[in-house]
Amino acid sequence: MKTQVAIVGAGPSGLLLGQLLSRSGIANVIVERQSADYVLGRIRAGVLEQSTVDLLAQAGVNARLQAEGLPHDGVCLAFGGQLHHIDLFGLTGKRVVVYGQTELTRDLMEARSAAGLSTVYQAENVSVHGIDGRSPSLRYRQGGVEQVLQADFIAGCDGYHGVCRASLPAGAVTEYEKVYPFGWLGLLADVPPVHEELIYIHHQRGFALCSQRSRTRSRYYLQCALDDRVERWSDQAFFDELRLRLPEAVRHNLVSGPSLEKSIAPLRSFVAEPLRFGRLFLAGDAGHIVPPTGAKGLNLAASDVNFLWQGLVEHYQGASDAGIDHYSRRALARIWKAERFSWWLTSLMHNFPDSGSFAAQMQAAELDYLFSSTAAMTAMAENYVGLPTD
Ligand code: APR
Ligand code: PHB
Repeated sequence: MKTQVAIVGAGPSGLLLGQLLSRSGIANVIVERQSADYVLGRIRAGVLEQSTVDLLAQAGVNARLQAEGLPHDGVCLAFGGQLHHIDLFGLTGKRVVVYGQTELTRDLMEARSAAGLSTVYQAENVSVHGIDGRSPSLRYRQGGVEQVLQADFIAGCDGYHGVCRASLPAGAVTEYEKVYPFGWLGLLADVPPVHEELIYIHHQRGFALCSQRSRTRSRYYLQCALDDRVERWSDQAFFDELRLRLPEAVRHNLVSGPSLEKSIAPLRSFVAEPLRFGRLFLAGDAGHIVPPTGAKGLNLAASDVNFLWQGLVEHYQGASDAGIDHYSRRALARIWKAERFSWWLTSLMHNFPDSGSFAAQMQAAELDYLFSSTAAMTAMAENYVGLPTD
């Protein structure tokens, strides 16, 4: 088999890249290790920056997002039991849209199959070959048969644990990493959100986040110990703990209900540099991870894909290779700023078990300053709604 761009991974990065390339007349095949249902079973953050919404419109996959996405003009932070509203729209002229990553993935999958584009699911033992030469390829097994997919380029959209980054020669990539000393216990339930805005809560018992998927579906998180286990948390215990961490002003609104999903995720900051090796490009979680505080993961994946798509279009139009040559540098400039913001918001809002009382006072002083300074709130808002994409 032969194509122009072979894409590894059918997460949001791979599906969005495939969709944009196809609409620009560039042939592509996606090779995914899991089944489509497995990919759709993963629950992840659901806050989209305007630039992500715009890119989805360019990809022609925004109909349901426009109908069902919930625009948010603000976000709340809670500290010392008080709720503080950050007026995102008033401070920046931009808003964010709440729309679950699962729904977005479903929209992208449906658009791909409606267009009759090729996706290989349940591909086993995917391996990457010849990225230094002119004709790279993927090999994999499907239904017990060895397959070879030849391409001009390979897009590694295969997430943090994928095969693409792992296939690079030793020393080709520099990795930067920070692991945080806690995790997030998440719960999804069909109950109305406790508040109209998302609330990021600083609390002595640990951070909590009140998010939502719709007016009838809530997504809540609790900071938990790294060695905690989901079986230790009944739904009742989760809601009891969340209630303790909620600010007084909204506590009475909390409606509990049976969980649709409950899981624990560790928090990590990670960047690989560079993101291009010969004819292989890394995009999305394959190249970088942010902790979920601030919901930048999906938005960063979208901006990587945007840079890569533009570069590949320029290449195939014969205009220039500047876009693909500068892909890594352009993408990383935005990635590092989102890494900084996610690290900052994580550091500000969590309870750090071993950092001591001085660090706790620094958090308190910084939060106090943030709520009293329009300049500081504007800086937070500008990052939350998304920095420029060029
Ligand atoms: N071969 C084929 N596919 C693979 C392989 C492999 N060896 N390894 C991983 N994959 C697939 C995974 O099964 C997954 O479906 O690659 C896909 C990667 O998807 P994601 O992990 O969702 O990564 P990405 O598409 O970059 O999405 C970024 O998702 O993880 C969140 O916070 C992140 O919101 C951000 C977004
Ligand atoms: C979510 O809705 O899952 C979510 C929202 C905002 C975040 C993280 C996760 O910062």
